[in-house]
Amino acid sequence: MNKTHLFLAASLFCAGSISADVPVYLDDSQPLEKRVEDALARMTLKEKIDIIHAQSKFSAPGVPRLGISELWCTDGPMGVRPEVLWDEWEQASWTNDSCTAFPSLTCLAATWDPELSRLYGKSIGEEARFRNKAVILGPGINIYRTPLNGRNFEYMGEDPYLAGRMAVDYVKGVQDNGVAVCVKHFALNNNEINRHTSNPIVDDRTLYEIYLPAFKAAAIDGGAWSFMGGYNLFRGEHASYNPILMNDILKGEWNWDGAVISDWGAVHDTETAVTGGLDMEFGSWTNGLTNGVSNAYDNYWLANPYLEGIKSGKYSEKELNDKVRRVLRLTFRTAMNRNRPWGSMGSDEHKAACRQIGGEGIVLLQNKGGLLPIDPAKVKKIAVVGENAIKMMTVGGGSSSLKAAYEITPLQGLRNRFGKDFDITYSRGYVGDTLGDYNGVKTNQDLRDFRTPEELRAEAVDAASKADIVLFFGGLNKANHNDAEDSDRLSMELPYGQDELIEALVKANPNLVVVNISGTGVAMPWASKVPAILQAWYLGNETGNALADVISGDVNPSGKLPYTYYADLMQCGAHKLGEYPGTPAKDKFGNDIFDIPYNEGIYVGYRFIDKNKLKPTFPFGHGLSYTTFKYGKATVDKTTGSAADTFTVTVPVTNTGSRKGSEIVELYISDPKASVDRPVKELKGFRKVALMPGETKTVSFEIGKDDLSFFDAKKHEWVCEPGDFEALIGASSADIRSKVKFAVK
Ligand code: GLC
Repeated sequence: MNKTHLFLAASLFCAGSISADVPVYLDDSQPLEKRVEDALARMTLKEKIDIIHAQSKFSAPGVPRLGISELWCTDGPMGVRPEVLWDEWEQASWTNDSCTAFPSLTCLAATWDPELSRLYGKSIGEEARFRNKAVILGPGINIYRTPLNGRNFEYMGEDPYLAGRMAVDYVKGVQDNGVAVCVKHFALNNNEINRHTSNPIVDDRTLYEIYLPAFKAAAIDGGAWSFMGGYNLFRGEHASYNPILMNDILKGEWNWDGAVISDWGAVHDTETAVTGGLDMEFGSWTNGLTNGVSNAYDNYWLANPYLEGIKSGKYSEKELNDKVRRVLRLTFRTAMNRNRPWGSMGSDEHKAACRQIGGEGIVLLQNKGGLLPIDPAKVKKIAVVGENAIKMMTVGGGSSSLKAAYEITPLQGLRNRFGKDFDITYSRGYVGDTLGDYNGVKTNQDLRDFRTPEELRAEAVDAASKADIVLFFGGLNKANHNDAEDSDRLSMELPYGQDELIEALVKANPNLVVVNISGTGVAMPWASKVPAILQAWYLGNETGNALADVISGDVNPSGKLPYTYYADLMQCGAHKLGEYPGTPAKDKFGNDIFDIPYNEGIYVGYRFIDKNKLKPTFPFGHGLSYTTFKYGKATVDKTTGSAADTFTVTVPVTNTGSRKGSEIVELYISDPKASVDRPVKELKGFRKVALMPGETKTVSFEIGKDDLSFFDAKKHEWVCEPGDFEALIGASSADIRSKVKFAVK
């Protein structure tokens, strides 16, 4: 070491950045694992027990004596939940926690744009960071197995590849802020009915090909720092501490070093929680939404009972030390990471992100006669109908409910955009959910309306008959048995007599646009009679502006469906072949549970539609534009290769219309002859391309072994069999524009 080095070392020493007496675990210039081991070695047994379970509704204590900070979690996947009381679900009524409510994750998935996922993750991560939260309890990426699942709106659709790719950049965006994601609900939490006692019976191939890939992508490609175990069981063991899911797969096969956090109230015994791979216990004795034994924290399953078990020799400290390491790692990556940015909340950037993601997630399902966008030359009188034009949706739906800083309703958004030049009328049309308070967050909307359905319909039909265009805002909402946690839908039908109202409106005025606001598929028996249909999601603060952007044509819609719009439940494998909601059974303690055989296996969504040659109302991956696109011929760089080779498929896409727009190009792989039954095709790539009128761009996809393989349950590994394959390039799963064959030697 020469004089300069000595001088530098001394000055660093004096600057105090690395002073000798700072213990390793507090020195964030030290490698993470060194900090973890140093902290672990300093902790008492009681401190190790304390750090792995909650001290309040949403926090764990850390180690005060050592200055290892508390760990604060918050919901949810679409925005930072308002503060609740220490040990209650009720609001703490703080005045600094009104957040940006971002669009639902199904809307994000409908953008098919990983760059928007990154923007989404960055934005929500900044708000969580600003609110000093170490863990945000999202994203939710459970697969859309049935349209009846109450929480589909929180997730990213029916296809594991789409959900996984869209989750990866969300994870990175959040964690760039030094805030951990908590990917949920691992795994097989595909319905809300009996959510604490559902026991999916799933074979390995279905598990590995359908229900794990999105989580694997989030864990490995995204680098998620924490996962949340689901309430449900899997093969008789609760998911939050299921040895197969947590030890064998997540921490074993995937070699994941993060922390597993239970869902709130998902832990029911000590022994399995100790050995089943759970690292942090939260919310015990609650059903995740309401009730709870107050201040039960020392009696948590991983608290005194575990401490006594170790003292009595029933448990070694081996599992405990692994849990503590993972909690320390999570803490050093977040709350004790001094290199974190500072975050922000309610910024113009977040508002813009909310509006952009909303506008790019809205799906134009149908547009006969080009009724949309509104043409000022033809339209002066706009009749707006429907409760969902005025109802705030950032509140409700369960744990993802938010206290939004503001919310632009569809009607407000239309008035903002069209107000001065157009005559806009509003009529309610129907009365659905008038609840205006969720856990103490008030909408300050009084939606009560005491008129009869007939009076409401007569007013709407009259308004429609006098307008140039009718915009109906209906669909679902966040009330029970709509899009809501802890309850499933009771059928696919729209509630509150909307089907009849829509039929009456289109009779009164054929220029009807139905804007369906929902987070899951609904039956649309009137689809063939209605010229234009928009699938709008829960779009957050900027709902009305994002919708007005698309309806006016300021934004050319580019979203595509992340799930199939079944005509009826018999088009859905879970209902045609599988069981739902399951049959009564007993768990290992003799408690009542519901076995749910997923007999449909890997045939979920379009995989089931293709296999059975069905015609849904709208197919997976479907979405129109105000312009048109032509796909050229797909070509491949080599027609044969080995499994180790990469096959590059390219396809030119041209904007053949008069308006700029973006097109999502979808790549499906077909393996027509295999030793096992395989879906007709599976999504293995997608690319969104922006094109000016007349512009052509070439889109290319790299296809590797992973994209060609299936999971061989007997060998317990992914297998790419030699033989012919086909790449199918589609504008949707039912609109294949070009195909090209190639073979693996
Ligand atoms: C809920 C949900 C979970 C949420 C947690 C905390 O019951 O299942 O998604 O993050 O409890 O509110």
